Amino acid sequence: MSLGLLLLKKIGQNSSRRCINSFVFNQRSFFSSIIKPRVSALKQIRNKAGIGLVTAGFGYVAWNEFESYQQIEFLKRKIQEFLDCIGDSFRVQCDSEIKQNRTAFYEQTIGLDKNKKKKENFDWVELFKLIWKEKFYFLAAVASAFMVAMLNIQIPQDLGNLINSVYEMLKSNVANYESLYKPALSLIKLYIVQSLFTFSYIYTLGVMGENMASNLKNNLFSKMIKQDISFYDRSRSGELIDRLTSDIQEFKSSFKSCISQGLKAATQIIGCCVSLYLISPKLTLITSLVVPTAIAIGSFFGSILRKYSRKAQAQISKSTAVADEAINNVRTVRAFAMEDYEVEIFADEVEKARKLNIQLSLGIGIFQGVSNLFVNGMVLGVLYAGGKMLVSNEINAGQMMAYLTATQMIQRSFTQLSILFGQALRGLSSGARVFEFLKLVPSIPVDDVGAKIENLKGEIKFKNVSFRYPNREEANVLEDFNLEVKPGEIVAIVGHSGSGKSTVCSLLERFYDINEGKISIDGIDINDLSPNWLRRQAIGYISQEPILFATSISENIKYGKPDASNDEVMAAAKLANAHDFISSFPKQYGTVVGERGTTLSGGQKQRIAITRALLKNPKILILDEATSALDSKSERLVQETINNVIKGHTVIIVAHRLSTIQNADKIVVMHNGKIIEIGNHKKLMALKGHYYSLFNLQSYE
Ligand SMILES: Nc1ncnc2c1ncn2[C@@H]1O[C@H](COP(=O)(O)OP(=O)(O)O)[C@@H](O)[C@H]1O
Ligand SMILES: [Mg+2]
Repeated sequence: MSLGLLLLKKIGQNSSRRCINSFVFNQRSFFSSIIKPRVSALKQIRNKAGIGLVTAGFGYVAWNEFESYQQIEFLKRKIQEFLDCIGDSFRVQCDSEIKQNRTAFYEQTIGLDKNKKKKENFDWVELFKLIWKEKFYFLAAVASAFMVAMLNIQIPQDLGNLINSVYEMLKSNVANYESLYKPALSLIKLYIVQSLFTFSYIYTLGVMGENMASNLKNNLFSKMIKQDISFYDRSRSGELIDRLTSDIQEFKSSFKSCISQGLKAATQIIGCCVSLYLISPKLTLITSLVVPTAIAIGSFFGSILRKYSRKAQAQISKSTAVADEAINNVRTVRAFAMEDYEVEIFADEVEKARKLNIQLSLGIGIFQGVSNLFVNGMVLGVLYAGGKMLVSNEINAGQMMAYLTATQMIQRSFTQLSILFGQALRGLSSGARVFEFLKLVPSIPVDDVGAKIENLKGEIKFKNVSFRYPNREEANVLEDFNLEVKPGEIVAIVGHSGSGKSTVCSLLERFYDINEGKISIDGIDINDLSPNWLRRQAIGYISQEPILFATSISENIKYGKPDASNDEVMAAAKLANAHDFISSFPKQYGTVVGERGTTLSGGQKQRIAITRALLKNPKILILDEATSALDSKSERLVQETINNVIKGHTVIIVAHRLSTIQNADKIVVMHNGKIIEIGNHKKLMALKGHYYSLFNLQSYE
């Protein structure tokens, strides 16, 4: 810094010490006496003008001498402030690059699926439709951002005028403060108008962004929740939630930044370049060679740093994964006495991460150091060249001031654009992911279109049904499956795990469409029935794992029939042996169950789930291993409940424990998607086949 001062000192020839004194030391009083009282509310403006004035003073000082050490110190401090201000723009770039790396890595690790989808083309039509909905806010935002940029271009010129007035005043050595009013006032006006436009674009963009995001969120969620079950078999829930949250968030913020910052930066760059050229073509030529080169070099090193950072992040995740695995499997680790081994693996990975991160710090350090040096050097360069031109009267102090401010603005704008570029790319890929899901159409609609059977009897027929899961097309899970269930009949399905029992239940609920054959209820193909009616009214489905929502017991029960009265709820609960234990809770039906029903025992949860299914009074009941996740006491209780409630329904009951279904009208033994034995308990025992051996095996347990 002192080097720069020396340099400037050399340039300085003419002397007017008093002027410098009064200028440098009266700078603040100048502001407080003339401008501050009028603009005290706009502190920021004062700061900006302060920097401008100091710069001008700096240029002015170039052809003067310094009187004392304090003066030099004061000047040094001011120059430092000014340079810091410029340096900040470069630092911002560096910091954001580091953050960018991290997110880039997260994107990478989200999984192959996402990577594949990242290549999805962005749907510009969809974006246009979104914008169209918010067209007024959009236009207001664009216009306001554009105005802010235009004013930003204008401001250096006016600052220059102000400086020139100051300069004239200093030169004539007469304190003619009135001459400052005009340029100062016009500057204040510009700042106020700019503030208003700034407010306007931030606000309108904010409103627009929020409207767009909430629209997108609602549409996306509604699309997602109505997708086929097979869609959920294919997707990871984490990824879906990501799309709803971080992808939309990312899309929204990049959109906002691109409109506000991007538009502003681009306008400013063009406008400032023009003003630079108007002020001094010669200086512009110098700058125009240096700035783009610097940006190119900076971006190149930035990309190297990004690569390093990605590597370091990946390594950190790897070490975390090692620890995660060990901690989650601590029993196994303990059982094999492998603690030290795990510690060693972990330490190895941590060490690799440490080295990579140190390398990264080195890189960032060099990058920042060099870029600071460069920026400072450049400012001094302009001052040097400008100072020379100032001396030879090619430009005046105000022009030089305007020039410096405009250069700084261009620099900042470029920095902003380079940051924005990365953000825009991320926004596009997030947007592409969101839009991709918006376009999905489920093959099984969730609506009320289709037949509804009045006076449902509950007869079920599977005829030559073949089915394979959409995500596992290679093998049939059910093959030529035939089953008839008469109204009011209780049919039990048994068989080894994986034999296709749950699949039969899912198909009856029409969670999937079958590949061949026909499933009918009361003689009507289920494809012709209203899916909502089928699930809401015809069938009550109770699964192995009862899922309750984190709300009150009463609301959980009413999930099956939201308009049910409390009496209906209670009657159903009594039927399902749930009323007694619910009544024993202090808040009874108002008891809020924890997330996923954690405050209740498994048996209690299952009985609430049964109540919920019974409330809608379905003709057909499907119980898929409703008791197998329970301990033996709860199992007995729930089994009693089941025996209680199945009367009067057509029932398909998948059972793990054969002793519980001896009274079924029909027992179906499944193996590899086929029925291998069918009949009642007595008949199957007499057959001495699969059922017989399974039953005997369980009797010994
Ligand atoms: N959502 C699914 N996607 C792909 N395959 C599945 C799915 N659900 C079950 N399967 C496969 O279908 C076969 C039958 O499964 P399932 O009907 O659940 O058997 P069970 O209920 O008799 O244990 C198994 O091989 C299983 O791996
Ligand atoms: Mg099953």
